[in-house]
Amino acid sequence: MQRKPFFYDITLRDGNQSLKKPWSLEEKLFIFDKIVELNIPAVEIGFPASSIMDFESCTKLAERAGDKTLVSVLARANKNDIDKALLAIKEAKKARIHTFITLSPFHMEHVLNKTQEEAAQMAINAVDYANNQLIKASKAPDIEFSVEHFGDCEKNLDFVIEVLKEIVNKGAKTINLPNTVERYRPLKFLSMVEKVKNALGDDVIISLHNHNDLGMATATTIEGFFMGAGQLECCLNGLGERAGNTDFCQVAVALHNCGVDTGVDLSKIYETALLISQMSKVKIYEKAPLVGPEALAHRSGIHQDGAIKTKDLDFGAYRPINPSLIGRFDDEKIGFTSQSGKTAIYDIIKGLKYPITIKESVYLTPFAKQIAESKGELTPQEVLELYLDKICNIQGPFELITFKQVDKGVFDLFFNFKNERKEAIGLGNGPVDACLNALKKLGFETKLSNYKQYSIDADKDSSQARAMSAISILDDNKGEVIGRAIDTSTALANVKAIFNALNQIYS
Ligand code: KIV
Ligand code: ZN
Repeated sequence: MQRKPFFYDITLRDGNQSLKKPWSLEEKLFIFDKIVELNIPAVEIGFPASSIMDFESCTKLAERAGDKTLVSVLARANKNDIDKALLAIKEAKKARIHTFITLSPFHMEHVLNKTQEEAAQMAINAVDYANNQLIKASKAPDIEFSVEHFGDCEKNLDFVIEVLKEIVNKGAKTINLPNTVERYRPLKFLSMVEKVKNALGDDVIISLHNHNDLGMATATTIEGFFMGAGQLECCLNGLGERAGNTDFCQVAVALHNCGVDTGVDLSKIYETALLISQMSKVKIYEKAPLVGPEALAHRSGIHQDGAIKTKDLDFGAYRPINPSLIGRFDDEKIGFTSQSGKTAIYDIIKGLKYPITIKESVYLTPFAKQIAESKGELTPQEVLELYLDKICNIQGPFELITFKQVDKGVFDLFFNFKNERKEAIGLGNGPVDACLNALKKLGFETKLSNYKQYSIDADKDSSQARAMSAISILDDNKGEVIGRAIDTSTALANVKAIFNALNQIYS
């Protein structure tokens, strides 16, 4: 059976600490609830020793958490930090202490100013102390230990492994192996993770916490899961120091696509991403995978055609997911540029609730391309204007001047044909019939093959609502020709539609 990932959210700690304006308690409470709604089972709520404000928010969040969510607090590997952490999680139903120290040779020498033996001893003592204190406080001992800068521990990896064995003996159940700074290839990093995993055995949970300095954090996390990591530390919207932490949404969706039951509510991802962006004031960039404004846009004709043909399927052409999977309903954006084609026109006009045929979109395509070549992408409104201009108002030899009812079933049709005035009275059981009869009298015989009426301003009151008539006329040379026209008067919409069809036939 496929393993389930254990998602550990770090938005309120690693994410928050990187913000220009870290969140207030109220904001943190709100975000915490959103994380719980996503069904993420564990949340790192803060770093109590970092400030009074952080201590207080950790205390409140720990009180708020129910028994469904594990709350964890960060502490450096010293007694003072651990005491503050213990105090902050006092009221939590399910709590963890997450302590850390670097064991990277570079960092120990240049930043920590300790020998590796000194750093290792601090780590062992911290885990031992935290474990005993949790037992004393009658709390289930749950300790995570992180080797900060694990990615830089290639040279002393054997030493790190021996220290970790000791740390596990002292009570740490989860060993987090952060790529604190992403410097190299994912597989190089993961081969180190694998070595630790094999040395510690299956009872120890291996956790990954990948920063995204080179943009490969998601890849490393996903491959790390398949290599055996049980806990995945992720941040909403990929927030975090520098280029951020591993993006939760990307990891959850990628695992889902690989057939893994993620246990989280994927359908809340998009709305949560928008909220987090608003609250963090960190914009979701246009091309951000899955949630970016442009992430589901298609502009080339071939891509648009494939995407539209597979729109309602779970597995789509030119897209990684059906957007509804993450609760995204702003749809796959189809824009019209000089690279686009008929399918885009068809989809845009249909999307605006106007009728159109593929033949009509083929007809409109060169006009739209010509505009797009000089101005760039056309807005849906501009495509509609083109449609109204070129399809509903076709210029040609026929120019309608007036069409008036003069008596019951009697209409007066007045128009120009090749600039020559024409007028006839038409009888009929409606405007279409009467107009065609009047035209016939003047020598323009037509074969009506179809007639349709659409209401296009359904949201407006009836005095303003316009109707669209679509009149199909069969022509010996051109086959079925559709004339469309829009007017607040249905009778005029009908007659204009007939004239638009005639202008196509006689052009
Ligand atoms: O990036 C990192 O190494 C960390 C640790 C504190 C886990 O955030
Ligand atoms: Zn981090």
